[in-house]
Amino acid sequence: MTMSSLFDTPEERIAALREQIHHHNYRYYVLDSPEISDAEYDRLMRELADLEAEHPELVTPDSPTQRVGAPPAEAFESFRHRVPMLSLSNCFSIEELRAFDARVKRMLNRPPDEAISYVAELKIDGLGVSLTYERGRLVAGATRGDGTEGELVTQNLKTVRSIPLRLQGSGWPSPVEVRGEVFISHEEFRRINAEREARGEPAFANPRNAAAGSLRQLDSSVTAGRRLQFLTYGMGYRGDIDFQTHLGMMERLREWGFPVSRDMRLCEGIEDVVRFCQEWEHRRPGVPFDIDGIVVKVNSLELQDALGQVSRSPRWAIAFKFQPTQATTVVRDIQVQVGRTGALTPVAIMEPVEVGGVTVSRATLHNEDEIRRKDVRVGDTVVIQRAGDVIPEVVSVVTSKRTGAEKPFVFPRECPVCGGPVERPEGEAVARCTGVACPAQAKRRIEHFVSRTAMNVEGIGPAQVEQLVDRGLVKDPADLYALTLEQLLPLERMGKTLAQKILRNIEASRQVPLARLIFALGIRHVGEHVAELLATHFHTLDTLEAASEEEIREVPGIGPEIAASVARFFADPQTRQLLERLRAAGVQPQAPEAVPAAPADNPIAGKTFVFTGTLVQMTRPDAEALVKSLGGRATGSVSAKTDYVVAGEGAGSKLEKAQALGITVLTEEEFRALAGLE
Ligand code: IVH
Repeated sequence: MTMSSLFDTPEERIAALREQIHHHNYRYYVLDSPEISDAEYDRLMRELADLEAEHPELVTPDSPTQRVGAPPAEAFESFRHRVPMLSLSNCFSIEELRAFDARVKRMLNRPPDEAISYVAELKIDGLGVSLTYERGRLVAGATRGDGTEGELVTQNLKTVRSIPLRLQGSGWPSPVEVRGEVFISHEEFRRINAEREARGEPAFANPRNAAAGSLRQLDSSVTAGRRLQFLTYGMGYRGDIDFQTHLGMMERLREWGFPVSRDMRLCEGIEDVVRFCQEWEHRRPGVPFDIDGIVVKVNSLELQDALGQVSRSPRWAIAFKFQPTQATTVVRDIQVQVGRTGALTPVAIMEPVEVGGVTVSRATLHNEDEIRRKDVRVGDTVVIQRAGDVIPEVVSVVTSKRTGAEKPFVFPRECPVCGGPVERPEGEAVARCTGVACPAQAKRRIEHFVSRTAMNVEGIGPAQVEQLVDRGLVKDPADLYALTLEQLLPLERMGKTLAQKILRNIEASRQVPLARLIFALGIRHVGEHVAELLATHFHTLDTLEAASEEEIREVPGIGPEIAASVARFFADPQTRQLLERLRAAGVQPQAPEAVPAAPADNPIAGKTFVFTGTLVQMTRPDAEALVKSLGGRATGSVSAKTDYVVAGEGAGSKLEKAQALGITVLTEEEFRALAGLE
């Protein structure tokens, strides 16, 4: 490896860094055998990114820094494949597999006892994609689409670490199309869904949908955040390069830097293929991603050509599909679990049953709507399904087995863990417990409480929270203020200096600005900005706590949904108790800087304004800020206390209400004149 030297020009250094990073990417993502530590790798990437930032003219599309994502696209362009992407015909039994072999021999005029060489590979349940390289550089990446035309998702595919941006070795044609499957592991699937659930977004039903959703992101930085994987299974357009066999072709692709599955076998004759299929049907539960069968391909490319294709499938290949991993069993009970984010998930407790080699006694029912849609009752006989090691789910009810004794399930309105209120916002599938003291959510709430943008207790992160809660030292955020040096020292990777620093940071957080404390409480719909608005308006925690929903709704910039959520939060006894404990622990949030006293000699001072409709010359927040700076008040709804309503274009119900109440209505110009702007 070249080292940086005083004599390198930026071009030379950038080129050397790119070489090194490409090499280490390949070692890590394709060969799974890294040569350097993550820290060293990060250092190389940072040096390259810094140099490129200084010399933007030297950035090229195949630079490893370009894997991070590009600005959002409007929509995807369509992409015509030079050679169509075919699909595979399926078979579902060993007999059908033998019939395929017999058909191949018949068409090739071979005797029935001759052994054909086949290659058997895993059939990955992801998305087929085609990568086009010109002069060894990745220039286009597209989805399969209808096989003839797909969508151009180059930028997203560039974020997939195992896809080479430039080819290694030599002898590659130009252009050339390389094909393979993009997919995600079960582990990544669970991670993405947990993250979505935390944001109140619907979970992906299976890893395939998650991979598809990630690849079809208009904003490729979202794709970059998902660990998509890629395995190569063949080629499309390949110029006049000559391969003898499929295996030989895969070998070359491996030399060019493509990831090729190791679980691929050259089989002499169909019985060898049968054994491979049976072996993998057994091993399937241990595979860390979804596979739905085995693809069997005639190895000789000459024979493939001779066999040709029928409609859109080659005659030289077939997909042997595994038995569906479904079974029927009886639901004994339906229980509700509470996740780290407070999400309530109903789970069917069933008579244990074997599915795809694993005994299953619990299956997810996802949410309340799903139970209702499938009409699952306690006592029902149900069909359940599992794919890989993804959580088993209830697919349907066998209604013909109903006796009339089955009991419909009533979704709880109170949290089964803490008894706190359960909230299900309109339009959302997930119901959540909002109790601040709910033990199921303790870790997450505390992590949020101490985070940088909340109370900013540096030194306490998820790993420390995990230990503090597991050791029973902290049950809610208020407990943090009672921590001692002796309690912190036994934690993993904790030294005296760090522990003292943490205690100092906890101490400092007692004097936090009010907005940060409001944000730290983790009220639904209250981000940093809303917390700021609430703090500015109410000044003290006591006033906010005592405010009615109507009063909260009057805060400019706060809509009815947020107001309802805030009011509900402060009305909950669990919240009141937590605030009491925080106060007792000496937490004294600091009121925001007072707004400078407004000159009282202007017509706006002391008056209450409501803005409605669209203003032309200024934005509504600017107008509201102006009112405030002149000593007036701007509120969100019209009442008898309103002095003026300023009606912009398209003003509706608020204007009508103002007229009905006899309140003075101003045009935008009249308002500007009143404020001394005109
Ligand atoms: S070969 C003409 N090999 O399965 C042959 N496909 O149902 C084309 N797939 O669209 C495909 N693993 O996206 C091949 N080892 C493998 C595969 C594989 C998954 C997908 C591929 C294809 C679909 C056909």
